[in-house]
Amino acid sequence: MIFLTAGESHGEALTGIINDYPSGIEIDTDFINLELARRQMGFGRGQRMSIEKDEIRVLSGIRKGVSTGSPISFLINNLDWKNQKDKLDSEEDVLNPRPGHADLPGILKYRLNSIREVLERSSARETAVRVAVGAFAKLFLTEFDVFILSYVEQIGKIRIDEDKFRSFVKKSFNPLKHKTDFEFLERIENSLMRCPDEEAADRMMKLIKKTSEEGDSLGGAFRVIASGVIAGLGSFTQWDRRIDAKIAASVMSVPSVKAVSFGSTLSTAFDTGTSFHDEIFYSRKEGFYRNTNNAGGIEGGMTNGEPVDIKAIAKPIPTTKKGLKTVNIKTKESAVSFKERADYCAVPSAAIIAESMLAIELANAVQYKFGMDNIREIKQNYGNYLNYLKNI
Ligand SMILES: Cc1cc2nc3c(=O)[nH]c(=O)nc-3n(C[C@H](O)[C@H](O)[C@H](O)COP(=O)(O)O)c2cc1C
Repeated sequence: MIFLTAGESHGEALTGIINDYPSGIEIDTDFINLELARRQMGFGRGQRMSIEKDEIRVLSGIRKGVSTGSPISFLINNLDWKNQKDKLDSEEDVLNPRPGHADLPGILKYRLNSIREVLERSSARETAVRVAVGAFAKLFLTEFDVFILSYVEQIGKIRIDEDKFRSFVKKSFNPLKHKTDFEFLERIENSLMRCPDEEAADRMMKLIKKTSEEGDSLGGAFRVIASGVIAGLGSFTQWDRRIDAKIAASVMSVPSVKAVSFGSTLSTAFDTGTSFHDEIFYSRKEGFYRNTNNAGGIEGGMTNGEPVDIKAIAKPIPTTKKGLKTVNIKTKESAVSFKERADYCAVPSAAIIAESMLAIELANAVQYKFGMDNIREIKQNYGNYLNYLKNI
């Protein structure tokens, strides 16, 4: 499937169009709205998120709750539009670009007079549409027992002990099927920091509070994992079919994400080959399997049957009360960067958006290998491949 998003941060609504979504999938709009609500949560978000209550309104492509195969289009209203409309219509040009935001390159590129025209679209508000599309992708992936979760590993310099949680995520991880998996997920979902380590989460929140009171912002790191992913998605045969490259680009497209890595690369890639690579074993019950997943479930641009395991790093939010030195684009005089109501830290939300982007890439890879049009047909092809893998 491919998708487009449209809409400005303080426009009337955000819109999305999805093409090539298979027919025959039951679309649970409550699930999509739940995903939208997950994006809105997290300690460190600004006032805006208490105004918005994102809900999807589907306009096409679904009949009697089931996808038809036609393009799906939908709306998410911006509730803040009514409050801001008059104010923004009469606003003077915004002239002091924020370092770290799209402001300066944006006005240069599009020959605009006010930074407002750039910031309205470059704002991460657009990612609500991506999370809705990701929810459609997740509904598709559920048919193949793929489950995606995420959690926050670091805020500023406060970091969880990653070894403590590494073993939780296995090939068979599925909170819909296993109680311990459900409990682990519940711990994350109930945490305002999306962090399974309560003590670290507490310290992270204190740091965010202190930093925001000082007029500053924070970034951090998060992990996204997909379990139940079959071996053989993506390909080594052409550079642009490598699934790690596609996933990396998609996760990197989440605003503020500046690094994406797979498995334990960041901590173990400088070890020797024999300690880094995941040795191969075989059992009749499991087929081929590994006891480690340093590769993050991808070898040679293809999934290898282990969980797809990603770590991403998000830089601090560019808008700060403190401000940074900048230059007025009209007068060329020194100035302090533009300030607007903003988040102080959005790493938990970035993790949810990254879940969505991973879901979209995996759904695409499944469709590429097993078919585009109808879910029953795709599942049949998938089943045939599973049988082949079992009998190899
Ligand atoms: C969920 C989320 C919320 C964000 N909120 C803000 C914000 O309120 N103010 C801000 O300046 N940047 C915010 N950002 C970051 C900017 O969108 C981002 O830094 C900017 O678009 C420039 O893109 P880049 O950081 O990828 O280079 C947010 C990012 C995410 C993922």
